[in-house]
Amino acid sequence: MEVLSVTSEIYPLIKTGGLADVAGALPGALASTGVAMRTLVPGYPAVLGRMEGGREVAHFDDLFGVTGRLIAGRVAGLDLIVLDAPVLFDRPGNPYMGPEGWDWPDNWKRFAALSWVASELGLGLVEGYRPHVIHAHDWQAGLVPAYVKFGPSPTLKTVMTVHNMAFQGNFGSDIFWQLRLPPHAFSVYGVEYYGGVGYLKSGVECADAVTTVSPTYAAEIRTPDFGSGLDGLLNNRASTVYGILNGIDMDAWNPATDTALAQTYTASTIQNRQVNKRAIQEQFGLEPLNGLLFTVISRLTGQKGIDLLTDNIDYLVSLGGQLAVLGSGETHFENAIRAASQRHPGKVGLVTGYNEKLSHLLQGGADVIIVPSRFEPCGLTQLYALRYGCIPLVSRVGGLNDTVIDANVAAMQAEVATGIQFAPPTGPALGDALRRTFELYADERSWKKMQRRGMKSDVSWETSAARYAQLYASLTGMSLNDDA
Ligand code: ADP
Ligand code: GLC
Repeated sequence: MEVLSVTSEIYPLIKTGGLADVAGALPGALASTGVAMRTLVPGYPAVLGRMEGGREVAHFDDLFGVTGRLIAGRVAGLDLIVLDAPVLFDRPGNPYMGPEGWDWPDNWKRFAALSWVASELGLGLVEGYRPHVIHAHDWQAGLVPAYVKFGPSPTLKTVMTVHNMAFQGNFGSDIFWQLRLPPHAFSVYGVEYYGGVGYLKSGVECADAVTTVSPTYAAEIRTPDFGSGLDGLLNNRASTVYGILNGIDMDAWNPATDTALAQTYTASTIQNRQVNKRAIQEQFGLEPLNGLLFTVISRLTGQKGIDLLTDNIDYLVSLGGQLAVLGSGETHFENAIRAASQRHPGKVGLVTGYNEKLSHLLQGGADVIIVPSRFEPCGLTQLYALRYGCIPLVSRVGGLNDTVIDANVAAMQAEVATGIQFAPPTGPALGDALRRTFELYADERSWKKMQRRGMKSDVSWETSAARYAQLYASLTGMSLNDDA
């Protein structure tokens, strides 16, 4: 079976968050299930720069008013189709914003073009290639299901995956007439959303199946608190909404072979993590202490509960802990953490910006990763942490709830705990959890056991890839090794 994945980012070519990791890992994870996944991505400079030996498979004279072409090729083990449309995608900055931090004003057009091209591929634009399913990720691909629904192909199926309900891609109604959709698509059964055009809404409305990235988030987004306005719609189609947990790339994230570490290790040589801890302390300007070293690797935003963290830094230090933060995002959060590092020299360190290599070292040497999110569709850093023997301390929301087993009394007695959870997502609740973490750490034997349990827990894609494969099969009525 052929599935076309449509995404605005993909690791290792272009990444601002977990979507890239998922889009990059899913094709490999699906390979053994009988699903061949190709991925359509925009031709950003970072993508085109890696496309050696690609070949042009289609050309557009008028792609929403600009010219463009499709280049197919294999890069980093990925089977890519790249939309090379320089006017839309050959820009500095990240995929969504310019260097000054403002969203590109023509984002509606950039991602409508991506989605429209996907639907054309679904109709057989490129000879010899006709996907059975198009799998659209997030609002940037949200129009794909609408183009398919209002287009001429009754057999093509679509899956819409919501990685984050908070980013919806909502625009004014004036753009509708340029979207190449028939007039009746501007309705509640199509792209219309509160009088404007909603890209994610349109995907959730028009796709044959909607998935999100954890079972708990799938339930949460059907409530007003987490649904960001789409909870009603999701409730209407509840029987076709699925929560499928993300996995991780077990090769890219393997402490036994990771070249980003100062020292590799396994569950039986866990003491080697100490070398990585020293390397972290050095890079973050921290004293070479042996107590609990906490880390945070995150976008510094309200979603991620960074204010809960900053409320607790003094407390964390007063308990004898150290903190190394790697992140970038809202300036006031960066400033608050920097101020804490000045208040607590040698105890608190901050590295701003995006640094993939350093994120691996932190997982390989810190004792605890704090993930205090207000909402978290899945979350990947706690999964990397489990694999690396870094204990996750997480708020009990979304995928954090589904992947970490809290060290409560019963779980400790049953020897199944893998981390610490707290609820609700507030500063005082995080404070309690920090105190509990120090208590648990005092029992060295059971702490080590908990680390080893995490390292052995299944965070791979195996189960979830099989679930996606089953979903594609049930939508198309095909069996998984059927090529027809
Ligand atoms: P989200 O996608 O909401 O940001 P996830 O936990 O799903 O959250 O994914 C975040 C990804 O980005 C992880 O791979 C994490 O390691 C990475 N990451 C976040 N901030 C940084 C940073 N400053 N430097 C390097 N990697 C980062
Ligand atoms: C989003 C979510 C995050 C999830 C990631 C990949 O960025 O915020 O929780 O892990 O997508 O699905």
